[in-house]
Amino acid sequence: MKKTLVVRYAPRKGSYTKELVDEFIKLADSKTEITFLDLAASPPDLLLDDNLNLIWYGGQPEYTVEEEERLSNHFQLTQQVLDADNIVLGSPMYNFSLPATVKAWIDAVVVNNKTFAVTADGSFKGLCEGKKALILAVAGGDYAEETAHEYFSPTIKRNFEYIGIPSEQISAFGVTQYPEKVDAIMSTAKTEISKVVKRWY
Ligand SMILES: Cc1cc2nc3c(=O)[nH]c(=O)nc-3n(C[C@H](O)[C@H](O)[C@H](O)COP(=O)(O)O)c2cc1C
Repeated sequence: MKKTLVVRYAPRKGSYTKELVDEFIKLADSKTEITFLDLAASPPDLLLDDNLNLIWYGGQPEYTVEEEERLSNHFQLTQQVLDADNIVLGSPMYNFSLPATVKAWIDAVVVNNKTFAVTADGSFKGLCEGKKALILAVAGGDYAEETAHEYFSPTIKRNFEYIGIPSEQISAFGVTQYPEKVDAIMSTAKTEISKVVKRWY
């Protein structure tokens, strides 16, 4: 059975992101082994003075017990990505980009010598080949006419691509801008989710 890592950031009561992630889990639960990561309940460690320097540029060949303890969250998050066949990330758009908590997860898992490597000629190579990612994205606004003003979609796509994972995104955009269309926006997104589940498993 394939392994799927489901990463969700959906702290708002009545969250549409939660509704989409729930839909994915409902459809996929019997077909794949799911590891669930709730970023709002367990936010990733931020990269700060005492951990960034331990992992910087490939990290160290060995760590002390104290250093291992300090990096345990980082190691756990990275290992979850390495162990998964498929990754689903559900997130709202905040301030035209990723919520800080979701960006902290990206910062934790895009790691030199673990999920990507620098090759002898100085270029970069993703180390996560063979995996697939699905992004379930929700935004209050509809960016159909102004894609240049939203940085959520290209940022998340580029980070997955960088570690070697092709991704596709299902977007429920416009849920605040068009309250009268929310049901249709969510229903279209759920239909798209069911197509991905059929294709993946
Ligand atoms: C802090 C914050 C920032 C937001 N920034 C944006 C934004 O830049 N563009 C946008 O379209 N919607 C923005 N929104 C609206 C959310 O995308 C919208 O409420 C969405 O439904 C949130 O997802 P949720 O339903 O899963 O909570 C923002 C909401 C919050 C709380």
